[in-house]
Amino acid sequence: MNKLAIIGGTGLSALAGVTIDDSKACHTPYGEPSAKLVFGNFAGRPIVFLARHGNPHVIPPHQVNYRANLWALKSNGVEHIIAVNAVGGITAAMAPERIVIPDQIIDYTWSRQHTFFEDDLKTVTHVDFTHPYSALLRQKIIAAAAAARIDTVNRGTYGATQGPRLETAAEIDRMQRDSCDIVGMTGMPEAGLARELGLDYASICLVVNWAAGKSTEEITMAIIEGHLKAGMNQIMLLLTRLLENLEISGLNAIDSSSAN
Ligand code: HPA
Repeated sequence: MNKLAIIGGTGLSALAGVTIDDSKACHTPYGEPSAKLVFGNFAGRPIVFLARHGNPHVIPPHQVNYRANLWALKSNGVEHIIAVNAVGGITAAMAPERIVIPDQIIDYTWSRQHTFFEDDLKTVTHVDFTHPYSALLRQKIIAAAAAARIDTVNRGTYGATQGPRLETAAEIDRMQRDSCDIVGMTGMPEAGLARELGLDYASICLVVNWAAGKSTEEITMAIIEGHLKAGMNQIMLLLTRLLENLEISGLNAIDSSSAN
């Protein structure tokens, strides 16, 4: 059975408008996920929702148990994941409140549990990660944005940093030289782990501040929260339009009782 999950990031610890049928605490070989999996309906579509930072939002990006999150989703039958990520804008088009559908990633994180392929191996596995996001899901998100007349940036390189501190101006300059357009702390290892599990994964990013050194303003939580609040309405609109029109073959009703 195909199932669709939304992983909500900063500003999206609970999905307003979701009709909740069930929620379930999961235990995985990698520990506990960030929060209970919520099974419900959103925009007429059965979905699973997971709050990446917990609900309430208390888990910082470097302490998210990404392996448990992805494992819990997979073992509950999820096959498609739409991740929502808050990011800083590096290149000129990536202004606050812009929505970006990234197509590439550079991973600057360190010491995170970033693979399922390391224990009790009989063979060594290297997954293809040339194109880190699902082309099909990206296409559907971009089409839904166009249909809803939401102005999105339809490509961009996501630079994943360790956090929780923000970057220095020199770090952002280096990331720009590397070709990063946006910077965030949660894009990896999430996308890589999804690929290792064979999950179809794409990200919708909301720019919530100019990255370090890209504006004269100090980056404060008030600035971030202001842009988050303003931009999240657009994200909700986009998710609604996307789910209303989504046709992924075999995307059936979610049955939480069938899960582990
Ligand atoms: N840097 C890293 N992660 C972020 C930022 C940023 O400027 N804004 C939101 N998430």
